[in-house]
Amino acid sequence: NVISPKTTTDQNYEWACQRGARLEHFNKKFTVDLELLQTHAEFCNEMHSQSRALAFRRASCVLKTLLFPLTHIKQLDGVKYIGGHVRKVISDLLDLGSSPEVEEIKFSDWFRKMKLFTSIFGVGPATAKSWIEKGWKSIEDVRNAGHPSKDWRIVWGLAFHEDLTTPVSRQEADRFMDILQCEAQNILPGTIITLTGGFRRGKSNGHDIDILITHPTDGAELGILSKLLDVLDKKDIILSGQRMKNTFSTEALNEESRSMHGKFDHFEKWFGICKFPKAFQHPTTPSGCQSSKEDSTEVKDNKNSSTHSDPLGLPFMETQLTRNSNNLSVPLVSVKTDLKHRSNVKNKSYISNTCVYEGEGEPHVPSTKKFKHEDCSEKEVVEMARPQTDWLARRVDLIVTPYSQYYYALVGWTGSKHFNRDTRLYAQQVLNLRLTSHGLYDMKKQEALQATCEEDVFRHLNLTYRDPMDRNC
Ligand code: GTP
Ligand code: MN
Ligand code: MN
Repeated sequence: NVISPKTTTDQNYEWACQRGARLEHFNKKFTVDLELLQTHAEFCNEMHSQSRALAFRRASCVLKTLLFPLTHIKQLDGVKYIGGHVRKVISDLLDLGSSPEVEEIKFSDWFRKMKLFTSIFGVGPATAKSWIEKGWKSIEDVRNAGHPSKDWRIVWGLAFHEDLTTPVSRQEADRFMDILQCEAQNILPGTIITLTGGFRRGKSNGHDIDILITHPTDGAELGILSKLLDVLDKKDIILSGQRMKNTFSTEALNEESRSMHGKFDHFEKWFGICKFPKAFQHPTTPSGCQSSKEDSTEVKDNKNSSTHSDPLGLPFMETQLTRNSNNLSVPLVSVKTDLKHRSNVKNKSYISNTCVYEGEGEPHVPSTKKFKHEDCSEKEVVEMARPQTDWLARRVDLIVTPYSQYYYALVGWTGSKHFNRDTRLYAQQVLNLRLTSHGLYDMKKQEALQATCEEDVFRHLNLTYRDPMDRNC
């Protein structure tokens, strides 16, 4: 007496980007365990472990679209991405209440240690494995061994491990956004600051805060990151971090499309650790910014974001939108021509996907000035992490994008990670287009497809628009 599943048309689609997946759904019991198997497979360095990881994730994504809680394995007949292995795990969960395979992994020493060590900022599976091989079992073991790594992220991540594994709340993210918003308007009116990552997908907490920075005038965003970091440093908000310059070029793009593994983007950015007063956890009026609210441009991330009129509430955006939407396809060829002469140009150029900027004073090169904490010795870092009662260390990512690439960057940095991976693969395999956080490219025609809103990105991909809340696959 098996009830056939209520189908949405969604679950029949092949690609996760063609379906919607929300944070809340009916089958968490199953997806949590399948994603644990995914993580475990990602930790393994065996022949087929990465494709096994992907298979678990795909199965989990499909279950998120079901509109009913699974009660019988037969309800999965004909459902995509449910292979033999996944079926066994789900059957066990249905019949026994738990999966012996999952339970064994969950309580295995190796998996526990891998999870623990990879929870340290800067530590990936390879480093975690090498530490396990040294016989280290706990964070204390690593700390006591001393000098486990020269990587600043690991030095700081280890010292502040407790803080950094305490989830960041939306409240804290909003307080930080208020400060950033205000300071950015002081530095450059019209600057657009957007909270992305998990928070934009509706999560109430996360492991970090991901923020995109742009300005409606392409090129105006140059130099703002340095200034913003200086202000944050003066306010004693910065603990440590690393700036990366913009490395975007059509060569890089071509190179990556051959290897197909451009995992990281080329935006100017800062990955760092900030000092958040504990007061950030309480709702109060924002403080610490001198400019009047009237001067600042409120950027609202429109949750039900519609295609039309002015999603960012900027009056001068109208012209920009109209101009760009009349000119959807911008050839890359002109950029290529410019690039040929690049080495001859005295002032180094800054390249967006539509134009080449002659940099005034090489704006894309981060200033050489170091923040005081960048030179800390390991001992000093550890001392800083010790008795601190009024603040918490928090991970922050700041990414600067030219406006011409902003909506692609917004999709890319909103995630989820699997949503991106799936969409990029879909673009490649179905449309023969290359999607990155910089744009959507027809490599044959050497064209970049312009987007003036997130809806444009989906439209170019021939996909139904998905709200960020529906990108939790
Ligand atoms: P929590 O922070 O745990 O809440 O999850 P999250 O979804 O915000 O994950 P994370 O902060 O790691 O990343 C946010 C989004 O940015 C994800 O979709 C990632 O795929 C993407 N992302 C993270 N790091 C990079 C990067 O270096 N380059 C690019 N292009 N994207 C990245
Ligand atoms: Mn995040
Ligand atoms: Mn992040």
